[in-house]
Amino acid sequence: MSNPYQLLGGEAGVRALCAAFYDIMDRDPDIADVRRMHGSDLGPIQEKLYEYLSGWMGGPPLYQIKHGSMCMSGPHKPYAIGPQERDQWLLCMERALERVNASTEVRSMLREPLRRIASAVQNRHAAATSSPTTAAAAPV
Ligand code: HEM
Repeated sequence: MSNPYQLLGGEAGVRALCAAFYDIMDRDPDIADVRRMHGSDLGPIQEKLYEYLSGWMGGPPLYQIKHGSMCMSGPHKPYAIGPQERDQWLLCMERALERVNASTEVRSMLREPLRRIASAVQNRHAAATSSPTTAAAAPV
């Protein structure tokens, strides 16, 4: 059986998905809170998400080779991620998968596992402000 990396079309397909993801994040008002957590240039984070998803979806483990750990809670610690931010991220990914015409099969393969990672990086119970400064000061 094919893995999501193959089903999306390998490197080109996963790159296209990440480009669509950050383009949507940049423009879609429904994703505005999550957009505000990011810097003005989304290029570097787009590359990192591509490297991460490459290995996670069954392709070359580029993120692990470059950065070591695949644990996602660490890099997200400085950001206040509540249910609203989690849902916006997932919505953004849902729309990106739609934009690259991902099949129903690959979308349903990804839905639950993505939801699990998104819940794992969530670090606030309630809606939170998105500033790293507030995140550092706020109780967990
Ligand atoms: C739950 C909602 C999420 C929010 C609000 C969120 C937000 C962010 C933010 C603000 C950054 C830092 C961006 C920067 O350096 O400019 C980041 C980094 C990153 N995120 Fe997320 N993220 C979420 C979920 C996820 C999920 C589910 C994945 C993977 C499937 C993911 C993968 C990554 C990766 C690979 C990085 C780069 C980590 C590094 O610096 O090495 N994120 N995220």
